[in-house]
Order: sequence, then structure tokens, then C-alpha cells
Amino acid sequence: MKIVVYGASGYTGRLVVAELARRGTGVVLAGRDLARLRAAAAGAGVPDAEVRVAQAGDAAAFHGCDVVVNCAGPFVVTGDAVVRAAIAAGCHYVDIAGEQVHMKRTFDTFAGPAQQAGVSVVPGVNDDGLPGDLLAHLVAEQTEAVEEVVLGVHLARGDGAPSRGTLRTAFTNLDTFRSGGLGYEDGRWHDDIPTRRVSLAFPGDDRPAPVRKFPLPGVVTVPRHVPARHVSGVAKAEVVAAFSTITPELLDAVPEGPAEDHRRAGRWTLVVEAAGREGDRARGVVQGSDIQGSTAVIVVEAAHRLAVNGAVPGVLAPAQAFESADFLDTLAPHGVTWAVDSV
Ligand SMILES: NC(=O)c1ccc[n+]([C@@H]2O[C@H](COP(=O)([O-])OP(=O)(O)OC[C@H]3O[C@@H](n4cnc5c(N)ncnc54)[C@H](OP(=O)(O)O)[C@@H]3O)[C@@H](O)[C@H]2O)c1
Repeated sequence: MKIVVYGASGYTGRLVVAELARRGTGVVLAGRDLARLRAAAAGAGVPDAEVRVAQAGDAAAFHGCDVVVNCAGPFVVTGDAVVRAAIAAGCHYVDIAGEQVHMKRTFDTFAGPAQQAGVSVVPGVNDDGLPGDLLAHLVAEQTEAVEEVVLGVHLARGDGAPSRGTLRTAFTNLDTFRSGGLGYEDGRWHDDIPTRRVSLAFPGDDRPAPVRKFPLPGVVTVPRHVPARHVSGVAKAEVVAAFSTITPELLDAVPEGPAEDHRRAGRWTLVVEAAGREGDRARGVVQGSDIQGSTAVIVVEAAHRLAVNGAVPGVLAPAQAFESADFLDTLAPHGVTWAVDSV
């Protein structure tokens, strides 16, 4: 098995390379800067790993590899070129994007080309997109005729602040973060579709917290496998504020990413609630720590599964590519817990 990481020199790309090295997987580091790629290989404990210098659309960087893991964000800038190159090279593709615009465009643009090439493309495989999508699949299974699915996120960071790359990505997508992004209703995705929720109960809180619409990846992926009339994403006000008030001055001031102990202290929580047309309800919670570290574990597990088992060709939601409960259970040794209840 050979897995190529594009954007391997970035803060999260380096964690992905380290996770591949920990699992003993053959890894190729790809990106646009030789010195940064070599430093990334050395830092991940694989100084002799193959390094390929390539711009974002260069399919030659991926030849001979089973899966491309794209860590080069903002994905609205790099995503199309890297997906196209992966398909041209005959590789499966996963990325760690949290960007609705990129994800929706990937489904709209590359479903046909991926099917023709016989490869699977799964965008949004990070600590939020994948667990949220898989959990929504499992929660919706508890509901007879699904009317609505609402996904909620909370990030309790401690000192584990987002990386500069994530803040730059949010700044690049600032309109989306300020508007709350896409909602889904009656077969269409649009910015003008509001969430139906004003509050949501998060674990550990005394009472439901006020929430606002938030552009979660699951809004793009969940309707692909859950026949709901309405799907929306929400977050607590402080999370919305953190992602919609970024300035160029802040980007200049923050470090590349949190130090390791701070990073590990961060906590992420996803809540999914589904309501059926007969009034039945179900709810699920998935939680973990270390946003960027979890993302590395999750995307490497996904890449392994595609390399070993494959999936149907095309652009897929996580729950279309992977068995939901089995994948979430695999994350238990990394501190990820999950549960689904009828309520
Ligand atoms: N939970 C989540 O949603 C989650 C978690 C983790 C990461 N992410 C996303 O992952 C992305 C990376 O985050 P990060 O913190 O690792 O960022 P980072 O440290 O800034 O790294 C970005 C990487 O992308 C490469 N890159 C940037 N622009 C490029 C371009 N135009 N062409 C080719 N390569 C380019 C950089 O290459 P150079 O070294 O050559 O500059 C670098 O390797 C962000 O979009 C972030 O939002 C999301």
C-alpha cells in the first residue's frame, strides 16, 4: 500500500504523515516546497520517505499510489486541481476539508469522472465531517420517516486553538461562516435555507444552549444517504464568533498551530438529532479530543479502508464509503466515544 499526502508540509499534513508512519504505511510526501517536505519527513520519523515536488494539479505526483490524502487548504483554492489530478492518476481521494463550498463543488463536478475512472472520492474526512456524517446515518436509522436532521458542533479548545491554516481557510470562506452557509431542504442546497433550531442540548450542559446556523460539512453529505426533508448545521455562539470574526491581523499574529500538549487538551463534540414525520425522535453524540490529531487518525483510517476494501466509484459521503458503526468503533483507542438513543 502506498499513500501520498498532498500538502504534507502543513501543520495537519505533518500529523497525517506521522500517523501513516506509526501504522507502518508506505508514504509519499507531495507539495510545492522541497525543503519543507524534507523537514516534514524528518519530523515525522521517516527521513527517507519519498518526496515529490508538485503544484496542485500535477497528476505525476500521484502515480503508483493507491490513495491521495489532500491536506492542502484552503480547499476552495486547491481542491478542484488536486481531485482532478487524483482521478487522472487513477487514485482514490480523501481530504480533510471543512469547507462546504469545496465539498459541494466536488460532488457536482467530479461524480461522473470518478465513476468513469473507477475511483472513490470522499471529501470532508476530518474530526467533524466524518464522525458527524456517520453518526447522522446511525441516528436516522432509528427514525421511521425522517423529516429533519440537525447537526450541532461544539469545540472546547482549552489552549488547543485552531491552526493558522484553519483560520486562513475560514477567512477565505468568511462569507460562508458569517451567513451560516448551506442548508438543505426538499432536494436542494441553498444559503437561504435557515436552520429550524435556536437551541440544542450538548452533553455536560445544564440546559440547551443557544445555537446559530453554522456551515458544517454534514449538511453537504448527509442528504446523500439519509432521505430527510431538512438538514442543517448549528454551533454554539462562541464557535460561530471564532470563525466569523477573523482578520488579516489575527492571521499574522497566531502561531502555525497549538503546541502538542495544548493540542491534545482540546475537545470536540458533535450532536445529531433526527425527527420523524410521526413525531418520533432520535439523538446521537460523538466526542473526542485533539482536533488536528483526531483528523490525522480519521483520514488515515479512511485512506487505509479505501486502499484495502475500495468503495463504489464516484464522489461519496463518508457513510456511503464506510460502515458507520464499525468505523466509529475503530476510533475508540484514540479516545473517541459515541452513542445513539431514541428519545
Ligand atoms: N476539523 C477540520 O475541519 C480540520 C482539521 C484540520 C485541518 N483542516 C483543514 O486542513 C487544511 C490545512 O490546515 P493546516 O493547519 O495543516 O494548514 P497549513 O499548516 O497552512 O498547511 C497548508 C498546506 O497546504 C499547502 N498549500 C497551501 N496553499 C497551497 C496551494 N495554493 N498550492 C499547493 N499547496 C498549498 C501548504 O504548502 P506549503 O508548505 O508549500 O505552503 C501546506 O502544506 C485547512 O484548510 C484546514 O481548515 C480542517
